[in-house]
Amino acid sequence: MLPIRTKKELQEIRSNLAPNSKIGLVPTMGALHSGHASLIKKAVAENKTVIVTIFVNPTQFDNEEDLQKYPTALHDDLRLIADVSPNIMVFVPTTSEMYQSNVIPKKYDFHGLDKVMEGEFRDNHFNGVGTIIETLFSLIRPDVAYFGEKDFQQLRIIQKMTEILKLPVKIIGCPIVRESNGLAMSSRNERLDPSLRLKAGFIYDTLVAAKQKFGTESVHNTKEWVDNEFENHPDFKMEYFEIADVETLTPAKRKIENIKYRGFIAVYANSIRLIDNIALN
Ligand code: PAJ
Repeated sequence: MLPIRTKKELQEIRSNLAPNSKIGLVPTMGALHSGHASLIKKAVAENKTVIVTIFVNPTQFDNEEDLQKYPTALHDDLRLIADVSPNIMVFVPTTSEMYQSNVIPKKYDFHGLDKVMEGEFRDNHFNGVGTIIETLFSLIRPDVAYFGEKDFQQLRIIQKMTEILKLPVKIIGCPIVRESNGLAMSSRNERLDPSLRLKAGFIYDTLVAAKQKFGTESVHNTKEWVDNEFENHPDFKMEYFEIADVETLTPAKRKIENIKYRGFIAVYANSIRLIDNIALN
């Protein structure tokens, strides 16, 4: 499988597709794992044409070290994709191909969805995500695009962006795929040493227990309990645990009837930042 490298080539291929060929897009940053594969499989099951993009998007990184150390594995990625289906097209551009010399994100108004949690702790992150996704949507013009609930806030922000900009693409959210100890799969997990990676099942165990607590306890007590669990753990440093409304992502102060909540967490294991989330009700 030969990846497509330039926008020109991609646009040529795109314009030669039959007008009724339903196109599914799976944007990624590579170092693919079973979480990505689940999105790609769903796209293959639901579309005639599937395009996977692999691009480590610099404008969404607020930390230079995280960008430099972001794993790449193009050879393995292409094999994983071909194993799902040999007909999938893969777009692997360079930074200059996507941004020319202007490597800065556009500014978006995401109606506040970007002001909390990941947005609060990662300056400009969602402007970078919006910039690259809007560019890919306009180049590829997909009918459907697939995003993981692993990055639930990102999924909600992309849904909001397509709504605000009236982009003719359906956004599909896909469930979180986990390692056998419950740790949410992530390209960053490769950077954990094996014993820490095993211990990191603690993050999911705590989320599951928090869900249980949230059934009977208040927002405040549930959050306090999670804070304490991490205070007492020598290997992890919690950045935030937030209970938020799934629609608006507004952090909850108290439970309101008929509102669906999720628990969102960001944790450092050594210098590696891990995120996860769980539906609470
Ligand atoms: P990346 O982290 O490579 O993830 C690509 C897609 O795979 C995202 O939609 C993400 O939510 C999904 N994903 C990752 N791990 C998953 C898991 N364990 N289970 C289910 N889905 C999972 O997210 C990005 O790249 C970038 O921000 C991108 C959207 C490509 C824009 O640059």
